[in-house]
Amino acid sequence: MRLEIPRETERIGAVQIYGLQKVYELDSGPDHEAIFHREDSVIQRISYESLFQVEKEMAIVVPVKDERLKLIEGVLCGIPNQCTTIVVSNSERSPIDRFQIEQEAIRNFAKFTGQKILLVHQKDPLLGKAFAESGYEELIDDQGLIRNGKAEGMILGTLLAKAIGKKFVGFVDSDNYFPGAVNEYVKEYAAGFNMCGETNTFVRISWQSKPKVQDSSLYFAKWGRSTVQTNRVLNRLISMYSGFETEIIKTGNAGEHALSLDLAMDIDYAAGYAVETYHFVNILERFGGLIPEQQKEPGRNAVKICQIQSRNPHLHEVKGDEHVDDMISASWRAIYHSDITPQSLKEALRAEMEERGYLIDGEIPQVKRYPALNKINFQKFSELVEEILQNTDENLFQGFSDTLPISIAR
Ligand code: GDP
Ligand code: CO
Repeated sequence: MRLEIPRETERIGAVQIYGLQKVYELDSGPDHEAIFHREDSVIQRISYESLFQVEKEMAIVVPVKDERLKLIEGVLCGIPNQCTTIVVSNSERSPIDRFQIEQEAIRNFAKFTGQKILLVHQKDPLLGKAFAESGYEELIDDQGLIRNGKAEGMILGTLLAKAIGKKFVGFVDSDNYFPGAVNEYVKEYAAGFNMCGETNTFVRISWQSKPKVQDSSLYFAKWGRSTVQTNRVLNRLISMYSGFETEIIKTGNAGEHALSLDLAMDIDYAAGYAVETYHFVNILERFGGLIPEQQKEPGRNAVKICQIQSRNPHLHEVKGDEHVDDMISASWRAIYHSDITPQSLKEALRAEMEERGYLIDGEIPQVKRYPALNKINFQKFSELVEEILQNTDENLFQGFSDTLPISIAR
């Protein structure tokens, strides 16, 4: 892969946000045969081998809820074999057991490709128990099961990635129509870690285009409607601290993102559509040094946020437009309720939310939040997970049965 070195950087305390990086070449060859390479270039070349090394240590979490099998299969097909895939399904079990159907399809896929796939159901009572017993009850409902929601599935996937000893975790939605786009995202995650370092790094993808049908021809929109609104407010927040207007943030609600696991364990999560925006907000809260008494770990090494612009068009299952407003509202609420948001920005946000009809009884509801995962007793959690995996009478893990349960940290 060949991509540009970031041109701009905004620094807030220990947080470094890099400007959007453009990809010049998806494939730029192996190490031993550098086709074209210039030391002084503003474009960096990352070889197959370097991407491969990162991908080997990366888990790709694929959240699934009642998606069409063809789409899920396409997504799996786009994930490089050297990654470990963690499918977190919250699909229905009755009247039709869709999870059962997913199991069969994924088992076959794993058999044919030897891809290392771990498939779990979000409502598996044993997984609920593992969280409850290792001190992370926040994720559990009154029936002892993991709560519904994509963010909740992501939290489960992140901890499983850590439990199987991975260094990086990346997310790819299961409703993506283009396996080639999925493949590109994973390569870009790997490129981001290669360029920014293996710890404290966050890689976020901004798609160059999103195809839409307009007047019966294809139109490639550059920015989604909610992305624009989220980015605008996040950039304003940053400008208020730096004193300079900025447009550095292009990935305010990037669903396609990857983190080094140390960072993933260290940040708080928001539920629902606010999850991605809140990543930025919480990283600034924790490491931005903006509110000294809230600085969780002063003196920590820099947290780097790297934003890469992908080349494939982004096309996912169309589930209706009505949630654009819900997404904007959730993102703004996450920003509104942060202690780092200056009063004047809060007031401006309130006015705009009122105008758009986002207030509920005149109030701006809080977003639900989950505390950082490092509060969990990880030793206990991984023991319980290992027990679950060993008692699975499934050959689903066949391709890597000797690596998976044993690699759990002990
Ligand atoms: P959008 O892309 O933001 O419009 O949201 P989607 O409805 O496409 O959801 C994003 C991804 O999360 C898709 O792959 C869904 O299948 C998945 N998803 C949605 N809800 C849940 C859930 O409760 N649990 C899990 N594990 N995945 C979910
Ligand atoms: Co989608």
